[in-house]
Amino acid sequence: MEVVITPDAAVLAADAIEALVRAQPAAVLGLATGSSPLPTYQELIRRHRNGAGPSYDGVRCFTLDEYIGLPTGHPESYRETIFRELTDGLGIARERVSSPDPSDPQRAGERYEEAIVAAGGVDLQVLGIGSDGHLAFNEPGSSLASTTRIKTLTARTREDNARFFGSPDEVPRHVLTQGLGTILRARHLLLLASGAGKADAVAAAVEGPLSASCPASVLQLHPHATVLVDDAAASGL
Ligand code: GLP
Repeated sequence: MEVVITPDAAVLAADAIEALVRAQPAAVLGLATGSSPLPTYQELIRRHRNGAGPSYDGVRCFTLDEYIGLPTGHPESYRETIFRELTDGLGIARERVSSPDPSDPQRAGERYEEAIVAAGGVDLQVLGIGSDGHLAFNEPGSSLASTTRIKTLTARTREDNARFFGSPDEVPRHVLTQGLGTILRARHLLLLASGAGKADAVAAAVEGPLSASCPASVLQLHPHATVLVDDAAASGL
């Protein structure tokens, strides 16, 4: 695992994504929502608008996770969020962006795994990290070999995500999420974390034991994982 402590994580992450897309115009990108990747997404869109970025016409995208129970098109659904925060801005057609289907949660996991395999697998997976060490919506205790499935959110994650809704009560209780096993099959993992609130989770993921109690510690198993953190998020290392 490569850990880079830098104030320029967004620039470095954008460089990595652009380099991949230049080398492989049909690259498959794995996309995370949340505030951690936002500066990277904004940097990519800025470069694209300036004409400096590559063409994203051939790119396919798979999102990490999705809430169950929100009305179709709800602005806080992760599908809408990724359109708004990244893919629309890069000119990626919406039909090239896949996400787990919350309208059929029982079958969504298997279908999603099949779709990722059919696309040739994810070349680069962008990741954030929850304050409890969760990856996507794989809460502590998730199987390290898990695949896309339904999960129940912890009270802490619902509180953390309440800022996007009116109150913790409005945050859905159930989600679909790629599993840790799914994430590990991506060819390059790029984890972004900033701020002191992530320091404990980053330390546990990078230096703690490999353990389901810190799902992000699975990065230790991956042959090509990059962790980009600012000073505050690195303060527990
Ligand atoms: C959510 C998402 C994760 C994300 C995490 C951290 O729970 N499902 O994919 O990494 O929040 O979010 P943030 O980057 O906003 O701190």
